Amino acid sequence: MKKLSFISMVCLLMLLAACNSSDHASSNKNENSKKEEIKSDSGDEELENAKKMFEPLGDIPVPDDNPMTDEKVELGKKLFFDSRLSGNNKLSCMSCHSPGAGYGDGLATFIGFEGVKGKRNSPTIINSGYYEENFWDGRAGSLEEQALGPIESEVEMNQDLDELVAEINEVPQYVEEFDKVFNDKVTVDNIAKAIAAFERTIVVKDTDFDKYLLGDEAAITDEAKEGMKLFVGKASCISCHAGPLLSDHGYHNLGITGDDGRYEVTQKEEDKGAFRTPGLRGVAHTAPFMHDGSLETLRDVIEYYNEGGGDHPNKSSLIKPLQLTEEEIDALVAFLESMSGEVEKVETPEIP
Ligand code: HEC
Ligand code: HEC
Repeated sequence: MKKLSFISMVCLLMLLAACNSSDHASSNKNENSKKEEIKSDSGDEELENAKKMFEPLGDIPVPDDNPMTDEKVELGKKLFFDSRLSGNNKLSCMSCHSPGAGYGDGLATFIGFEGVKGKRNSPTIINSGYYEENFWDGRAGSLEEQALGPIESEVEMNQDLDELVAEINEVPQYVEEFDKVFNDKVTVDNIAKAIAAFERTIVVKDTDFDKYLLGDEAAITDEAKEGMKLFVGKASCISCHAGPLLSDHGYHNLGITGDDGRYEVTQKEEDKGAFRTPGLRGVAHTAPFMHDGSLETLRDVIEYYNEGGGDHPNKSSLIKPLQLTEEEIDALVAFLESMSGEVEKVETPEIP
């Protein structure tokens, strides 16, 4: 009895000591990080280490069988803006991927053919050519493959592909342009290739964050730098938003229910509710967020992560409460804004 209480006394003392020392450590750390803020960047080891985790976004990959030419991009742009691509000639790709709305549509979920309400958010096409797989669930292997999806989809453009070829063939200027660009007729494949080539020009990569990575220390604010440290540290966003695109090209479940996501492609139980990690450059221009458009602002997104995400049996073990303070949330938002850059405004082309 006596022995036991002695042991528990010792334990208690050790515990108190541990508490005390960890208190001490954390207040020390606060002091240190305050000091570090005043120091120049090169003196901030944590910042320098965080910076090493990132790399600028390189040139967009171009498939061998669809080289880029100016004429092809121009043709693709016309097709992108041309409502002939839809069954009722009312919707173009632009209807849901508008340059004015960050190449999305600004809606939570899309409105499609004859006003049909879709279940998913129209993602931006900014940087979409960098993904290994396209769509929220990755069901298309390339932009060429992707482009035909919405044209044929009954709820999107609801256009028969043979009919589309016939319709485009009725326009002499298009016939001439296809001949010039592809040395070929108007075909479904060539339509897809031209659109994909145009999409590969919609790139955001020269952001303040990228300038910072390339050595311009003053390109981003101190707050954004704090956000960058949190991104790789306490908030561990980098577990998934990694690599040059800030996407691991993988599929994860954040706890949002109501859509099977990746499961629809793989039929694997563990993929239910998983979606492709989006890249983050340009992100401030593409609200609302997530595959269902359920989060309106970047702050809402960080708060969602901070609370440990949603409630889904397949939720990733990486999604858990983060204990971020309000200031830390602001810093993460500032960091995301620093990588948002400018969205190139393309002139509406003249449709032949
Ligand atoms: C009615 C709205 C609508 C129209 C019209 C539309 N899209 Fe989309 N687009 C969407 C939605 C919604 C998704 C996401 C669907 C999904 O992931 O299941 C999407 C996904 C995409 C993606 C994938 C982006 C990524 O991150 O992988 C690209 C690229 C794209 N669309 C291009 C086009 C092109 C090209 C056209 C015209 C041929 C077009 N869209 C027409 C709504 C639309
Ligand atoms: C477990 C992997 C994972 C982690 C960790 C993670 N994300 Fe994500 N992120 C995703 C996936 C997957 C999506 C898309 C989910 C969906 O739509 O259901 C996403 C979506 C987003 C979006 C919305 C993008 C858009 O276009 O709609 C933002 C912004 C974002 N994450 C930022 C962050 C930040 C900041 C952190 C750290 C606090 C973080 N993420 C941590 C995987 C992750």
